[in-house]
Amino acid sequence: MTMNETLSVIGCGYLGATHAACMSSLGFTVIGIDTDPEKVAMLSRGELPFYEPGLDTLLAQEMKTGRLTFTTDFSAVAEADVHFVCVGTPQSKDGLAADLTYVKSAVAAIAPYLKDGSLVVGKSTVPVGTAQSLRNQLAESAPQSDLAWNPEFLREGFAVEDTLTPNRLVVGVANDRAEEILKSVYEPIIALGTPWIRADLPTAELVKVAANSFLATKISFINAMAEVCEAAGGDVTVLAKAIGYDPRIGNRFLQAGIGFGGGCLPKDIRAFMARAEELGAKQALEFLREIDAINLRARQRVIDVVRSDLSENLSQYKIAVLGATFKPDSDDVRDSPALDIAAQLHAAGAHVVVHDPKGIEPARKRFPSLNFAESVTECVKGADLILHLTEWKEYRALDPSELGHLVKNKIIIDGRNALDRDLWRSAGWKFHALGRTD
Ligand code: UDX
Repeated sequence: MTMNETLSVIGCGYLGATHAACMSSLGFTVIGIDTDPEKVAMLSRGELPFYEPGLDTLLAQEMKTGRLTFTTDFSAVAEADVHFVCVGTPQSKDGLAADLTYVKSAVAAIAPYLKDGSLVVGKSTVPVGTAQSLRNQLAESAPQSDLAWNPEFLREGFAVEDTLTPNRLVVGVANDRAEEILKSVYEPIIALGTPWIRADLPTAELVKVAANSFLATKISFINAMAEVCEAAGGDVTVLAKAIGYDPRIGNRFLQAGIGFGGGCLPKDIRAFMARAEELGAKQALEFLREIDAINLRARQRVIDVVRSDLSENLSQYKIAVLGATFKPDSDDVRDSPALDIAAQLHAAGAHVVVHDPKGIEPARKRFPSLNFAESVTECVKGADLILHLTEWKEYRALDPSELGHLVKNKIIIDGRNALDRDLWRSAGWKFHALGRTD
């Protein structure tokens, strides 16, 4: 089939802004649509509303080509043939399930403008069954269109790379025509040898949550081993290295520490459990409840180590927290274990000062009562204890001898198992890490 080269992207958050800039870089004309006028204004100026390595440059570059535009006006989709729905599906306020309000209203908002033969492509992470019900909805409101599902696996910090050179492309389609359209959009990526997987709609939706559940399980597995190592006098970092050499296990995602956070893994496993229950398959995903519990326990375990290093009553102590974002190379603090721990220590009466290379402003918005420092030096000055909670590269480069002159007590807890224990110890520090016995 012949393709007009205009695409629309509905929802210009993390996923949408990345997708829009990347598709433009492949040569498409791309119209990005978002209901937030401030976001649209920023993106239109070629500025990124969040931090993502490489995406700022790509966005600025694509804006200059004139192929990429952003608007709040949904009627602009009338120009496009393929529409990528990239809006958020956060956890509901009143339960574990995903909130589908934004997805439903995005599809309803574009329906009146869809031209003949156009394809709506969902990229948001949704509970299985959503795609089929949206397709039924469109059959009523815009029978000239079709709907497919194309889950996105991009990691924050690697968003551009994961979009332009993904390790697979998965498309859920109800017919050959929808697959052909998507093949023509992704042609340059397929040409790189990227595996192409055609699935039905429910399987495509499930692939995404299954992948995230597996990753969450892997992290909680190693954090469970960390608990056992602590009890038995072992070292989880050595254990992880040793089991990771077995290619059936693999060494990625076996970094023990304070666990997973962010806008995806925690809410996706919860929404998956909620959906399985609705489908009568609750028992199949009971294990995810334990995965969630192990993950949240890791945060508590760090707090227990702080108390045993200092005192049950923390009110006399200054605690320097290095890291606020849920992972390095991101300014995202959604469900961040680091920030949660900082807030809990603050609530327990400690004088907590938080540093982060990129996440101070979003963290301050979330917890305005916390103290923030613009530099590591200011953060650790006079501290009774340092907590290393997000493994930014610059924290690994810190000089423990220099820092030793700034703090009150040379105690550090590595919540990410990322620092060089021998280096810190040789500079006279008391060094603790999750899952490693001293
Ligand atoms: C995740 C999935 O990886 C991605 O494929 C999906 O599209 C969106 O969700 P992201 O949320 O960007 O991506 O983060 P990810 O790199 O998966 O890390 C998630 C969390 O797990 C972070 O808090 C990270 O610190 C933690 N983590 C990761 C560990 O604690 N240990 C590990 O070994 C790996």
